[in-house]
Amino acid sequence: MKRSLLASVSLLLLLAGCTPGPGNQMMEPGQGPKGPDSPTRGMGGMGGHMNQGNAWPLQASEGSRELTIPEVLERGQNADFDYEVVAKEGTTEFYEGTLTETYGYNGDLLGPTIRLKEGETVRVKVRNELDEPTTFHWHGLEVNGAADGGPHNPVSPGESQIVTLNVDQPAATLWYHPHPHGQTAEQVFKGLSGLLYVDGTEQKELGLPQRYGVDDIPLIFQDRMFDQNRQLNYDVLMNNDGTTGDVSLVNGTLDPELTVTQPQMRFRILNGSNARTYTFRLSNGASFTQIASDGGMLREPVDREELTLAASERAEILVDFSGTEAGEELALTDAEGTALLPFKLAFDKEEKQPDLKQGTAGQPFLTEEEKALPVSKRLELFGMMEMVTINGQKFDPDRIDLRQRKGVTEVWEVYNQPDMMGGMAHPFHIHGTQFKIISRDGKEPGPHEQGLKDSVQVEPGERVKLLVTFPETGIFMYHCHILEHEENGMMGQVEVY
Ligand code: C2O
Ligand code: CU
Ligand code: CU
Repeated sequence: MKRSLLASVSLLLLLAGCTPGPGNQMMEPGQGPKGPDSPTRGMGGMGGHMNQGNAWPLQASEGSRELTIPEVLERGQNADFDYEVVAKEGTTEFYEGTLTETYGYNGDLLGPTIRLKEGETVRVKVRNELDEPTTFHWHGLEVNGAADGGPHNPVSPGESQIVTLNVDQPAATLWYHPHPHGQTAEQVFKGLSGLLYVDGTEQKELGLPQRYGVDDIPLIFQDRMFDQNRQLNYDVLMNNDGTTGDVSLVNGTLDPELTVTQPQMRFRILNGSNARTYTFRLSNGASFTQIASDGGMLREPVDREELTLAASERAEILVDFSGTEAGEELALTDAEGTALLPFKLAFDKEEKQPDLKQGTAGQPFLTEEEKALPVSKRLELFGMMEMVTINGQKFDPDRIDLRQRKGVTEVWEVYNQPDMMGGMAHPFHIHGTQFKIISRDGKEPGPHEQGLKDSVQVEPGERVKLLVTFPETGIFMYHCHILEHEENGMMGQVEVY
């Protein structure tokens, strides 16, 4: 029993009315899932107001298992639909000899990668084999409200639906996950998430690595916590300000290692956590190149030494391993320097490097007209725990909060109203659109944010202006993507007509 969380402690905390969290002094570092033989970690810098600092420190990956690469979903031969996605219960052997109950799409945990082509229309049969309602939400895909899979599109247990997805947006790394009213956070926590790629032509034109699982690697980062029976006990772990854990999973793999077989690698990173914000670095401090944000390629590639992704955000990066010495220890780490994904280098140095061609640089990110547009929608994020609101209100499925005409561009200003204790960052997400960040507190976004986005981290006291166009009609959610905040009502609806 190398890792056993004292579930009884959690239960006590629960009975005492507090949610387990690292800020809580009742929980000693040594009681984390890695058990007494794990190195003791300091708990410095935490406590006080619930904020990112309040997430559990992550355990380093032992690198004992090769990273799982999700399969690519095959197109079927059926006359009525092209793809089938089934939400189901399963079990996963995270720890040898123990089966953990999990949820997955078409399998036991997570889901296959769906690859759609820009410009195509596909029919996806979605089927719910859980014994609770779920929905199938295509996060970042600009489809109409009926196909979006938000809380208004539930699929009952045992039922299926065929949804038509009209793929009309540039190449991007998107994802899919459930969105049933009140059950999203738990279903995601138990394992329902998958990647959805839009494949376009620019990726080829740019000369990017694109061999799936070889030099084009999906990386879904999620933190979890296991109880003493090594189960994912959401009810006990649930934290109203965002459930975090001390175990880092990548593509559902515990203690992963990635064998790097090419000197130039492309990583498509999804922060699929319920709440945690990650800051990624390379353990040797080397820089890497960010090429894409949530909704596609950046205006131009940007060299970075760290990459921060809030819950639900994605980025694509290129890492050049050619200068790395054999035997050198290298890993993708978090901000604390904890190795989340160690690399094993196994490539031929002679392998030719792809030349990265220019992006769309040359065209400005925003036109003068776009920059001059007045703000027409104002949203104020406020609160913490159960008290979270947008414009003073909690989500009401029967209330339409905003209306916007299809195809008409508006400026949304999102303000994160701090509270007496400072407040916390909220990753703000809008369905049915890929927007541009016009400014943060009046300042133009950095080059790494000069690309399409569907989620944006808004810091306490910060005012972010977004350029928002909906290409399709329907009712779309906007919400904080800390899933527990979303469940607690930090969500509204825009009707696009
Ligand atoms: Cu990731 Cu409401 O969505
Ligand atoms: Cu979404
Ligand atoms: Cu929030």
